Amino acid sequence: MNEETKTKFNNYRNVVDDGLNKYIEVVYPENIYESMRYSLLAGGKRLRPVIAIETASLFNVPVEDVLPSACAIEMLHCQSLIHDDLPCMDNDDFRRGKPSNHKVYGEAVATLAGDALLSYAPKLIIDKTPKSVSADTLLKVLREFFIAAGVDGIISGQIVDLDSEKKKISKETLSFIYEYKTAKMFKLAVRTGALLGGASSSVLSSLTEYAQYYGHAFQIYDDILDVTSTLEKLGKTPGKDVNAEKSTYVSMYGINEAKKQALFYCDKACDILSSNKINSDILHGVVSEISEGIQKC
Ligand code: IPE
Ligand code: IPE
Ligand code: MG
Ligand code: MG
Ligand code: MG
Repeated sequence: MNEETKTKFNNYRNVVDDGLNKYIEVVYPENIYESMRYSLLAGGKRLRPVIAIETASLFNVPVEDVLPSACAIEMLHCQSLIHDDLPCMDNDDFRRGKPSNHKVYGEAVATLAGDALLSYAPKLIIDKTPKSVSADTLLKVLREFFIAAGVDGIISGQIVDLDSEKKKISKETLSFIYEYKTAKMFKLAVRTGALLGGASSSVLSSLTEYAQYYGHAFQIYDDILDVTSTLEKLGKTPGKDVNAEKSTYVSMYGINEAKKQALFYCDKACDILSSNKINSDILHGVVSEISEGIQKC
């Protein structure tokens, strides 16, 4: 990502951070709000909300129209991380460079904080999106949210991910996991921006295809980092996939082939943007962050 794009990305990220900080205030019962805020404001790259804002901007949607939806997407992502770290799932003690939510607040509060974020998010979209956005558009955005959040999205990905530990699975099953647990969230981000902008169905499907490829590249890179990076750099425990005997591109194909596959998906994502004349420095830039990262590890 070049410097200009990085600056733009960081500006959007700051807008998201301010939004998240403003949208959830601590009131009685304080511990649940504090637990929600602890994970939400613990850092994180803010990729999904930034991608939503950027996609909306391609259609000249003002930031204030997309911000509630962008923050809602980050809340959903954050919920998935809190639950993913629980002992009954991936059992990770660290997230975003800090102790995981359940290590600080306990498993019951962490479970409820995830649930709370999940329902707070669509309410935020309804309450805070400016009234100039039509109810019809809002319904479409909410529908996308519920698809990504539920069994049509991340839940099915996470279930098959957990069921595939200590097992030999097919290529198709592996791809299902990556599509559902990871790519669906990026699809939500681009589709939210595009729907708010009134995109045509053909542009909407090109952006969805971009997110499908980007999501695969992103998750393969995450798997590669699990074996090549450190707690300090990752902010989460490395080596967890090997310990849990997770089925990943790395465990199935080896690290070199996993890198090749991730780069293949990066190329495909960029091709979709170029061949459909989707001129977005950030959508290109987030892909190049992965391909550059892979060359270095
Ligand atoms: C982590 O996502 C979960 C995966 C899909 C691998 P990110 O790497 O975007 O996590 P944060 O938001 O930066 O913490
Ligand atoms: C990410 O998969 C999918 C989520 C829904 C959180 P991972 O289990 O690999 O994510 P990390 O490595 O814990 O961030
Ligand atoms: Mg997991
Ligand atoms: Mg995990
Ligand atoms: Mg991982």
